[in-house]
Amino acid sequence: MSMEEKLNIKSALEYYIMAGVDEILGDEPFGVGLAEKKFSQEIPSLKKAPVILPLAAEKIDSGRQATTELAQATLSACQNAHDICAAAQTLDELRTAVENFDGCALKLTASHTVFGDGNPNARLVLVGEAPGADEDRIGRPFVGRSGHLLDKMMNAVGMDRSAYFITNVLPWRPPGNRTPTSAEIAVCLPFLKRQIELVNPEYILILGGSAANALLDNQEPISRLRGRWLEYEKSDGGKIQVLASFHPAYLLRNTAQKARAWSDLLRLKKTMQ
Ligand code: URA
Repeated sequence: MSMEEKLNIKSALEYYIMAGVDEILGDEPFGVGLAEKKFSQEIPSLKKAPVILPLAAEKIDSGRQATTELAQATLSACQNAHDICAAAQTLDELRTAVENFDGCALKLTASHTVFGDGNPNARLVLVGEAPGADEDRIGRPFVGRSGHLLDKMMNAVGMDRSAYFITNVLPWRPPGNRTPTSAEIAVCLPFLKRQIELVNPEYILILGGSAANALLDNQEPISRLRGRWLEYEKSDGGKIQVLASFHPAYLLRNTAQKARAWSDLLRLKKTMQ
């Protein structure tokens, strides 16, 4: 490889890093709607780097068609997930069904399906957003840095993993821990709801705004949702008491909020007692 080619590759990698790319999903690049010409004018050394496909005007119609097909695929995946959940009568059956489900593309980039874990007869279910890198590698929820903080906080109110069941909105890690799309959440939500129904807890502790919005079907920021008792309605109309709090990953970055999270856990403990 010539020095010029090496420099082109180096520039392309630097550009990806600058643009926030931290995961490679395939050998071939695919279209992102930037014209190669404009792109290479901005970074001349990229002229030969084959990274961008132009989005030609004549492709717009097929783009619309693809969007419609994607929406239809999402709807049918949601329906399929609902049917699978209705058929699963135990957590083990549900776990197998989720592992065999092919309606969510996140599964293609994940190493493991991360199903709920802990006490299946618990009075309390904890719900996070999605597996991170450690959870994806090991195949269990909350086993990385956030999980360690969560364990410490729960231990401090007298609960270890045998006292609760813990799961996520998504059973597969979004590449690079990106925010899940609403389509991914919609397809995977039936799995979370069925886990909750099968455990049938008295209380749910939701960790973070994204999980709270998904499970409670609202758009309220976590700063407004946290710390007060809310209700989750099951498919049979029964109610479960819900407390939302900050996600431990957020607490790792914003230690000043730990006091609020701590008061949420004390509230949970007091009510459960
Ligand atoms: N963050 C989550 O929301 N869930 C996990 O399992 C790990 C990190």
